Amino acid sequence: MQFDLESVRAQFPALSVADNGVRRIYFDNPAGTQVPSTVADAMSDCLLEKNANIGGYFATSVDAGQIVASARVAMADFLNAPSPDEIIFGQNMTTITFHMSRSIGRTLSPGDEIILSRMDHDANVWPWVLLAQDLGLNVKWLSFNKETFEFDPDAVDAMLTDRTRLLCVGGASNLTGTINDVANICAKARDAGAVTYIDAVQSAPHVVTDVQRIGCDFLVCSAYKFFGPHQGILWGRSELLERLEPYKVRPAPDEIPDCFETGTQNHEGVAGVAATVDYFRWIGDTMAQDHAYRWPEFSGRRQALRAAMDYLFEYERSLAERLIDGLTGIDGITVQGITAADAMLRRVPTVSFTHDSVASDAIAEALARQNIFVWSGHNYAVEVAKTLGIYDSGGAVRVGPVHYNSHREVDELLAALAEIVSR
Ligand SMILES: Cc1ncc(COP(=O)(O)O)c(C=O)c1O
Repeated sequence: MQFDLESVRAQFPALSVADNGVRRIYFDNPAGTQVPSTVADAMSDCLLEKNANIGGYFATSVDAGQIVASARVAMADFLNAPSPDEIIFGQNMTTITFHMSRSIGRTLSPGDEIILSRMDHDANVWPWVLLAQDLGLNVKWLSFNKETFEFDPDAVDAMLTDRTRLLCVGGASNLTGTINDVANICAKARDAGAVTYIDAVQSAPHVVTDVQRIGCDFLVCSAYKFFGPHQGILWGRSELLERLEPYKVRPAPDEIPDCFETGTQNHEGVAGVAATVDYFRWIGDTMAQDHAYRWPEFSGRRQALRAAMDYLFEYERSLAERLIDGLTGIDGITVQGITAADAMLRRVPTVSFTHDSVASDAIAEALARQNIFVWSGHNYAVEVAKTLGIYDSGGAVRVGPVHYNSHREVDELLAALAEIVSR
């Protein structure tokens, strides 16, 4: 089936914006995506007509309460959570992780071991390193193979012991783009009795995220990376959430999930999250019906969401292939990630590269002058950049297409790049 790019792009007003007559090309998506107008409308409706704290008797408070309740149901559908009461909203992934680390820390003792990954964004690394420093925990590092940009399949086995209490790993790298086999890693951690904390910030925009299939204990993501507002979301297994002691003020609710949500929530952000999930549902219902058969165990929105993610990923794969193909053809460029044509299912379309004589910052700046938006540097993937030996040399240029980008935009980027590095 032909990908209906035109209908998709029509949902995103930002894609039509031009500066001095030059269209913007958004390849900065791994740092934050644009939003469909339905998401902005839902946020505006919340602010203009349903603006109140929740828990009161009056109309706006009841409406705001319904917004939060239906957003929990929407995110439970998106993540295939057993219950909407396992969905916790917070400012962003980083803040939620620092917050949860305090509660998880209450279950740990000096000498306990935690496993952290060198493939991860610092938001799933440093909160745990600081916790380890505070509590006297031992940190073990899961390294990745610099040649394959993947974990060695058995690497985690040798690290698990009867003192391992926690394993934290990402669904996909925000620098190399590698998709990690988190279900396999979680199964091993579970057998060893360790709790798992998955950072799905970079996988959720591209592939189906299913907490039951992954078999994790916690999973966290950020809606602004998947076409929604700046809003963090955590799923936690209810038995664990019930056992953990939340850091909360006394009058705040004692029940999950509210007890883990500090202070007044960003209701307009939460309204936007529900609309974001329904954007994917719209894709599933209108464009991806022929992908639904792959998900016979689901129906309704859960099935439509999964069909949509599959449909979008197929198209994104074609963007990634074209981009990688073009990059590898430019003299002096090294792609810092998986490039093999038969391994495209093991990466998201986020592609980082370095050039052997032009600095990453200089390339990003030159592209910005042509209204092509990319990021450069380590992008907070500190351990990744150090492992690849690019941390001290300015990191990489990161080009992150998503499903609203076109093949033509990829070609324009490649042409601009070839010209920039040949100057
Ligand atoms: C993989 C990954 N994890 C975590 C984060 C942090 O997310 P947030 O900005 O929601 O704290 C990012 C942000 O770029 C990321 O790419």
